[in-house]
Amino acid sequence: DKGNHRHFMQKEIFEQPVVVAQTLQSYLRPLEEQVALPQMDFELGDIRRVTIVACGTSFYAGMVAKYWFEQFARMPVDLDVASEFRYRQPVLEEGGLALFISQSGETADTLAALRHARAEGQKIAVVVNVPTSSMAREADLLLPTHAGPEIGVASTKAFTCQLAVLAALAANLARARGKLSADEERDIVGHLAEAPAALNAALAHDEDIEAMAHLVAPARDVLYLGRGPDYPMALEGALKLKEISYIHAEGYAAGEMKHGPIALIDENVPVIVLAPSGPLFEKTVSNMQEVQARGGKVILISDAEGIAQAGEGTIATIEMPRVHPLIAPLVYAVPVQLLAYHVAVAKGTDVDQPRNLAKSVTVE
Ligand code: F6R
Repeated sequence: DKGNHRHFMQKEIFEQPVVVAQTLQSYLRPLEEQVALPQMDFELGDIRRVTIVACGTSFYAGMVAKYWFEQFARMPVDLDVASEFRYRQPVLEEGGLALFISQSGETADTLAALRHARAEGQKIAVVVNVPTSSMAREADLLLPTHAGPEIGVASTKAFTCQLAVLAALAANLARARGKLSADEERDIVGHLAEAPAALNAALAHDEDIEAMAHLVAPARDVLYLGRGPDYPMALEGALKLKEISYIHAEGYAAGEMKHGPIALIDENVPVIVLAPSGPLFEKTVSNMQEVQARGGKVILISDAEGIAQAGEGTIATIEMPRVHPLIAPLVYAVPVQLLAYHVAVAKGTDVDQPRNLAKSVTVE
């Protein structure tokens, strides 16, 4: 049932504050000001390396997690798409945890990668939205998302719930490795607990974003730029746009632009820049200005401070609430989802059932 919504995708985008709160409930103990994980038969503190494997949007959640695990837990992390993982003969040593992320828990490549990692002696953790799925059954550590059934083929609410679980896992890993003081843990719990309200604030810009759809809908190519954990968010923005609007889009690490794709820039290629204020802001903005200097049309997604500082010369801005860097990827998911959604609606494509795509990919 789509309720008041025109599409399942739109309904699922708007469910995010509720389902992220629901998911966080299992991973936060607000009274103790601690993060928590389900029971497991191994010690997180004994893990020496994490190998993250997934496909598509779930892979981008894993890419954000790599930044977090390294930054907060100083944990060495390997990351791969499932369809490549087995074939490159990865070196999987004792003490490794292999982490698989999947909405459906049935994606054939990811499941095959899981079985390979198990055969190679890795502990197996899974972040899945379907608790009865194959991956859930085969895990040593099951980390469920509580997004509820996701019907739209383009993943939205499952993704932000994955990020919520992965942020909590990052904090647990950091604590287990002695990298997180009680004060820092309290801060992280506080910031995660603010995520649902921040998602609501992001959703409040729905109409502004709808009004911008005409800036993107006529384009043949669109670029998305981000840095740090917002780089995977740029990749996710591009994936959402191409799968539902059929516009060619690419995500790029902001600093990589000048190594090639800047040659594409002209007034017909909208460039979406994801740049929350913070330590990476200045650098991303200077990459954005390289685009503007070449006649590129920029849509800047940032907070009020960032827009005040760098909004000039853009064709549009989308204002996000100012949030802690840990929850920025969750919040910045919303504008890229809404932009893809409204562009697709403007183009009249089949938003919930894009051509050539299936909700669960069970072939390798
Ligand atoms: C993109 C999308 C796909 C899935 C991918 C993995 O919107 O939905 O890229 O993310 O097929 O699916 P799961 O997460 O079920 O393993």
